[in-house]
Amino acid sequence: MADEKPKNSEVPHVQADHGSTSVGSFNVGNVGGSVAVGNNISIVNYYTANGEKREMRTGWFFGHRYGDLDSFTGRAAEMDMLNAWLNNDKDNLLMLRALGGFGKSALAWTWFNRVDREQWQTAVWWSFYEKESGFESFLSETLKHLGVEVKESARQQVNDLLEAMRGTNILIVLDGFERLLRQYGRMDAALQSDDEDADIDPSQRDCSSPLTETFLRGLSGAGTKSKVLMTTRLCPRALESADGKLLKGCREEPLSAFSPDDAVTYFHNEGIKATRAEILAVCSAYGYHPLSLSLLVGLINEDHESRRY
Ligand SMILES: Nc1ncnc2c1ncn2[C@@H]1O[C@H](COP(=O)(O)OP(=O)(O)OP(=O)(O)O)[C@@H](O)[C@H]1O
Ligand SMILES: [Mg+2]
Repeated sequence: MADEKPKNSEVPHVQADHGSTSVGSFNVGNVGGSVAVGNNISIVNYYTANGEKREMRTGWFFGHRYGDLDSFTGRAAEMDMLNAWLNNDKDNLLMLRALGGFGKSALAWTWFNRVDREQWQTAVWWSFYEKESGFESFLSETLKHLGVEVKESARQQVNDLLEAMRGTNILIVLDGFERLLRQYGRMDAALQSDDEDADIDPSQRDCSSPLTETFLRGLSGAGTKSKVLMTTRLCPRALESADGKLLKGCREEPLSAFSPDDAVTYFHNEGIKATRAEILAVCSAYGYHPLSLSLLVGLINEDHESRRY
């Protein structure tokens, strides 16, 4: 399957959104109390592993925007699964894995925007699709948003972010994580075919940068209040132990194609007047692959429009 980028995320667009964060309330999810500092931003205190008291700013931060929520269809079971994961205290990291165009970003984005901002006062959306939105930018921009000093050493930045994540409850979405893996880190990544992923050498699933590996390893295991949702085409090898099993605290959920019901709803929502049987016949020819169906819907509607004039 050819690579397709989300239509509306081309321009990195860093934006903090503190709109619905509650002001001055006591934040029970964090170690310390929280103090309102105006503009709906609160300062929360937390303690590092060695007992040092630190402070951090709450709020929602969109490093990028995926775009269109209106045409989003179905995925009720997946939404339930994500909600249950967010509320469990077992898995720190959930990896939503599938080949290109299966709807990982669309699902993650729609779900993220529905998360309760009272419960999750601090959240970050970051997409790795752009060259300039690499891991180091994610680190420094996220720390800046949290009001945590951005130290010169990137390794120190990783430690500081991990400390904040252990001490407070932050929700982070890492979208398109495969771009940080060797298989997709090449210059021609945008042209990368999924077929090439079928039998790749496991070392291609290593992160291009050791810094990213340190961060991933830091997320596994016990003792963090934060949650990370990763969308990726490939599982990073850093999340696996020597026997290939996922590390403690990490979970993988493959995302499958649309269900027949979702496909029918999608076609009808897009204004295509066809019977269920007709829709299923055409969708099954495309394996219910969401990106392929969206292109097909576009062609059908374009053709229909041009016949009208
Ligand atoms: N639930 C959905 N409802 C409506 N359209 C969808 C849905 N899921 C996916 N699509 C369509 O499929 C396209 C591709 O989806 P998306 O960008 O989420 O794929 P992806 O799995 O993140 O792919 P990649 O690995 O290339 O990033 C979307 O732009 C949209 O047109
Ligand atoms: Mg995506």
